Amino acid sequence: MPTALVIGASRGLGLEFVKQYLAEGWNVFGTHRSEPDRLRLRELGAHTLKFDVLDTNDLAGLSWQLDGEKLDVLIVNAGVYGPRASNIHQPPAPDDFDLVMRTNVLAPMRLVPLVAPLLGPSRGTLAFISSRMGSIADAGASYGMLYRVSKAAENMVAKLAHAEYATLGVRVLTLHPGWVRTDMGGPNADVDVAASIAGMRRIIDNPTAYPGGSFYDYRGQSLAW
Ligand SMILES: NC(=O)c1ccc[n+]([C@@H]2O[C@H](COP(=O)([O-])OP(=O)(O)OC[C@H]3O[C@@H](n4cnc5c(N)ncnc54)[C@H](OP(=O)(O)O)[C@@H]3O)[C@@H](O)[C@H]2O)c1
Repeated sequence: MPTALVIGASRGLGLEFVKQYLAEGWNVFGTHRSEPDRLRLRELGAHTLKFDVLDTNDLAGLSWQLDGEKLDVLIVNAGVYGPRASNIHQPPAPDDFDLVMRTNVLAPMRLVPLVAPLLGPSRGTLAFISSRMGSIADAGASYGMLYRVSKAAENMVAKLAHAEYATLGVRVLTLHPGWVRTDMGGPNADVDVAASIAGMRRIIDNPTAYPGGSFYDYRGQSLAW
């Protein structure tokens, strides 16, 4: 039975990854911050790990609890958007900058060296749930500036993880889930959460068609960095 670890599994895209992998009979670890979220994940049949990505003690605990595990898929999904009003005319306040950059960039930087080696034995896949808004090539407007900057930086973390871990057999993907109806995406987004996750799972499940070191949207289209 393959094993997946979903970082940020309490709701939205992360929770749907958990549900879909469980439905396929996978062994699934999901991280949460609150007790109600832990209980819900347990009820679904997932193994739960308490992990606030900003908390150094939680990171050490996660690493310790996963010691000796072998993973087939690792989803780095936890993220925040930050202030809605952030653009080239309205630079972010320092506290907003710190929260968004620490969550979307520093946390993946610190997580990867602890968990990516667990994918080596199964030649597994490390998938960063990034965003098309992080594409520098595609940037045509400055709304969501802080989020865009953080996702561009996360893309670099993913590319560097590919450079370092491909030799261990780990495939590193950068994925855009679409604009999805979640708390972050809002009710007017155009993609259903189940369709987004089914699409990304198809990419994750097909290393031949979708090699590592690349940036894809949930439909499998290549995106420019
Ligand atoms: N929805 C979209 O349209 C869209 C588009 C492009 C990219 N994305 C990306 O997809 C990912 C998931 O987005 P979503 O739409 O599912 O967002 P969401 O509904 O707002 O859920 C965010 C998830 O991240 C977790 N999280 C946030 N800060 C955390 C922290 N400090 N420690 C641990 N977990 C933390 C949340 O946990 P709590 O429940 O504990 O807060 C929650 O599980 C994000 O990286 C986002 O940037 C989303």
